[in-house]
Amino acid sequence: MKALILSGGKGTRLRPLTYTGAKQLVPVVNKPILWYGIEAIVAAGITDIGIIISPETGQEIQVKTGDGEKFGANITYILQDHPLGLAHAVKIAQPFLGDSPFIMYLGDNLIEDSLDSFFTAFKQQNLDALILLRKVSNPSAFGVAKVDEQGRVLQLIEKPKVPPSNLALVGVYFFSNAIHQAIASIQPSARGELEITDAIQALIDFEKPVEALQLKGWWLDTGKKDDLLEANRIILDTRLEISIEGDIDKESQIIGRVKIALGSKIINSTVRGPVIIGSGCHIENCFIGPYTSIANGVTLLEADLEHSVILQGAQIKSIHQRIVDSVIGQRAKIEVTPQRPKALRFLIGDDSHIELT
Ligand code: G1P
Repeated sequence: MKALILSGGKGTRLRPLTYTGAKQLVPVVNKPILWYGIEAIVAAGITDIGIIISPETGQEIQVKTGDGEKFGANITYILQDHPLGLAHAVKIAQPFLGDSPFIMYLGDNLIEDSLDSFFTAFKQQNLDALILLRKVSNPSAFGVAKVDEQGRVLQLIEKPKVPPSNLALVGVYFFSNAIHQAIASIQPSARGELEITDAIQALIDFEKPVEALQLKGWWLDTGKKDDLLEANRIILDTRLEISIEGDIDKESQIIGRVKIALGSKIINSTVRGPVIIGSGCHIENCFIGPYTSIANGVTLLEADLEHSVILQGAQIKSIHQRIVDSVIGQRAKIEVTPQRPKALRFLIGDDSHIELT
């Protein structure tokens, strides 16, 4: 069994963060989204992993993720020159995949369920495809499955205007080598891509064994800001372990589940968990409220924030209103100089979003 992780694409829905980096490297609880997928695959005992990368962000992914050693895996990078679809990615990965069955994992998806029980079902039932489904409120944004009363898949439709059900296709799939022939039989969709959804439909049409199982736990597709905040909240809630290695002065209070890395200083501040703070941060006269992730090298002076994600090297100074539901990009600076500013002065990148409410 091998694994193929798709980590290409342009990340347009996460702009401006993705102008300077891959969407799969945006951190959730200070760890790139992509790494959660790698860890889940390795936990299921699969260590031969191919990662599809794009020319724009592939190098950054390779440099940060490495050859797989830190995950106990062996990673092969496969360049997809143009984003021509998920099935196209499988096609170009064929030399890596050979005749092996494989799990295909979209690098911006996070699921709570472990992969073990799905992997076992796939093997025991000798399937050509096992797909995972989850009920969603906005099925038109996904691939959607029409299933019969026994849960057998009748039809799959990519981003239907009139969805036949509310069961979305999760970005985690198990395939036998029969998928290659199915991909060879399909044509690009209206959006010009070879859709994996169409290839699985071709397997169904050839009367190959295709099954669907529903996820029990949560599923997050971290493509947009609010999804990212939600992923951050859930992972902080369910997986954060207490560990305080930074310097906390006597005037500060650390309450609840908090992780603070070595080399960070907390001065005259309150941190109310769940909160993670990376290394090399300077936090002084602040309130850091629940569901906040602060990356390495962040400076926060006289700030008050909660339910937010602050990326590496950002600086926030003298903002007395509470900052909520925010994602602050790498090295961004927000500063208020006098107590009551008479003017607001900005240097804001494309697609940025500021709300003074
Ligand atoms: C892709 C698939 C879609 C699936 C989704 C899950 O969509 O085409 O069927 O439901 O991933 O994340 P995309 O993210 O390419 O729009």
